[in-house]
Amino acid sequence: MYNFVFQNTTKVYFGPNQLSHLGEELKQFGKRVLLTYGGGTIKKIGLYDKVMDELKKADLTVFELSGIEPNPRHTTVNKGRDICKKEKIDVLLAVGGGSTIDCTKLIAAATFYDGDSWDLVTHKAPVTKALPVCTILTLAATGSEMNSGAVISNIQTNEKYGLIHPLLQPKVSFLDPTNTYSVSAYQTACGSADILSHVFDVFYFNKAEKMDMVERVMEDVIKTVIKYAPIAIKEPTNYQARANLMWASSWALNGFLQTGGEFHAPCHAMEHELSAFYDITHGLGLAILTPRWMEYILDESNVSQFKKFGINVFGIDPKLPDMEIARKAISSLSDFLFNKLGLKSTLSEVGIDDKNFKIMAHKACRGGVLSGYKPLTEEDVEKIYRMCL
Ligand code: NZQ
Ligand code: ZN
Repeated sequence: MYNFVFQNTTKVYFGPNQLSHLGEELKQFGKRVLLTYGGGTIKKIGLYDKVMDELKKADLTVFELSGIEPNPRHTTVNKGRDICKKEKIDVLLAVGGGSTIDCTKLIAAATFYDGDSWDLVTHKAPVTKALPVCTILTLAATGSEMNSGAVISNIQTNEKYGLIHPLLQPKVSFLDPTNTYSVSAYQTACGSADILSHVFDVFYFNKAEKMDMVERVMEDVIKTVIKYAPIAIKEPTNYQARANLMWASSWALNGFLQTGGEFHAPCHAMEHELSAFYDITHGLGLAILTPRWMEYILDESNVSQFKKFGINVFGIDPKLPDMEIARKAISSLSDFLFNKLGLKSTLSEVGIDDKNFKIMAHKACRGGVLSGYKPLTEEDVEKIYRMCL
């Protein structure tokens, strides 16, 4: 177990009818607000009007950036940055899913940098300062509402990278599960696959010794998603289901489950190449990759962790041989992702062939070895992509 520092400073308002606090929260940072959102869902679900009412009541001056793409582009960050500089924005309000929140976080930092915002993502230039960011979450998936990460794409270079910096941590997040009632079955499934992957990819399958307490919470987050995602898909307005998924998304990647571990995210690195080259939905890419990655890395040296996963999460008979439990656990996960959530199970089904696997593997490893439970070379990564065809 490694030493760690844990600090999560995001103030969370959870539940319906809490937007009456929006004005007072924003006002502590100033009067000029940049409201950011995606392709218009917030207008369709009536959230835009509610937010605007609150901003008007609080006498705030509002500017807007709309059209933030899923897998947000650095060029959109640059647009937002220009508005912030020109209009002397005091605070940013992101209303949407992970893409809108991530884009907004980078706008906040890019406002204090004169060059291309992509330089911040690639660490060519450091983040030195950022405007405060508040969020209203509309999709349970990434955890961006309660963490200091942002993932941005550059479609000119087919690159997608994450940046983590404490200055990107949202100050205040409004988590109202009813704002996710309109999320489609497909996006609910993808978001759920993403939450699961944050647990598996980052720390459940990690060489560091874990605290039992943290590991049990991880298993409970996994079980919560397995229980509630199918309910949310069948009954989109089931409050219990939406609330459980929303809080699970925030806690899967707000730093708590990573305490004591080393930060690795091999499936995320492999997935970011899929999104960078093919613009596919993050959670779908993870769903396709994760069981194959598990099959690929499973061996005698790590079978005990897979066994624990099988017994504690899926209730597999502990008397079976270890390897059998491990294999059953992986097939139970595949069954959940592809049968219960209805996600496509292969890259071919989403129109991806092996043309770019070599270069994607090279980029995922960033010229070295992809760290994780079992370090992966470029050849390993290419083999895993092939297993997904
Ligand atoms: O654009 P709008 O109109 O908002 O529609 C979105 C979008 O089409 C729609 N949607 C959002 N809320 C909805 C809704 N549709 C109906 N009802 C609602 N209430 O869903 C679509 C996908 O939205 P997006 O924000 O892209 O999804 P998600 O939250 O999954 O975010 C994915 C992005 O986050 C990054 C991913 O790589 C990807 O770029 N990640 C960010 C992380 C972080 N900051 O910590 C970690 C993650 O691992 C991930 O990499
Ligand atoms: Zn993710």
